[in-house]
Amino acid sequence: MDFFEVNKFLGAALGAALLVMLISEVGNFVVHSSVPEKAAIAVEVAETKAPAPAEDKPKAVSAVAMMAAASMDSGKKVAKKCVACHTMAKGGKKKIGPNLWNIVGRAKASVDGFKFSSALKDLGGDWNYADLDAFLASPKTFAKGTKMSFAGVKKPADRAALLAYLRMQSDSPPAMPN
Ligand code: HEC
Repeated sequence: MDFFEVNKFLGAALGAALLVMLISEVGNFVVHSSVPEKAAIAVEVAETKAPAPAEDKPKAVSAVAMMAAASMDSGKKVAKKCVACHTMAKGGKKKIGPNLWNIVGRAKASVDGFKFSSALKDLGGDWNYADLDAFLASPKTFAKGTKMSFAGVKKPADRAALLAYLRMQSDSPPAMPN
């Protein structure tokens, strides 16, 4: 190894050392600058976690509370699912199911000349909004053994519109739910 070669070698070593220093500096810089980023992520997680329990709460969605905002037109549309089996008009005849005039507030299973199932007769009481809501959401769940073979109106907004429409099928519509 002559002098120039040693020099070249030392130069290369020095260059490498500088490069290492530079990399570690940049590394420090990157690490430091990423700290606030991590903090921001932590805050975000805390924020998205917080409202979760509140969203869990209203699981049994009641359509009754949504009635005030429901439109009569969409209620009439939803009611098309019923007219294969029910008449809605005053004095309408029975079909597969009983006439539904005045249904809100009417005694359950009380239409003369209609053969209700014992599932429906055993319910007792009047058709208030809450019971209609539950029955129409899932007839079989609310009245196990009912002969109303209908899956139910699953969307709360649709049920709210339907309830608002059914309420108006009366000479003196009962009061809206509080
Ligand atoms: C496939 C036919 C059919 C369809 C569709 C149907 N129902 Fe019925 N519904 C019946 C039958 C049958 C009964 C009697 C049930 C029993 O006695 O168990 C009944 C009973 C009822 C009752 C109880 C009536 C009372 O006097 O106690 C209500 C309320 C009712 N239906 C509302 C509706 C509504 C609202 C819809 C549309 C969303 C609908 N039904 C769709 C057949 C049907």
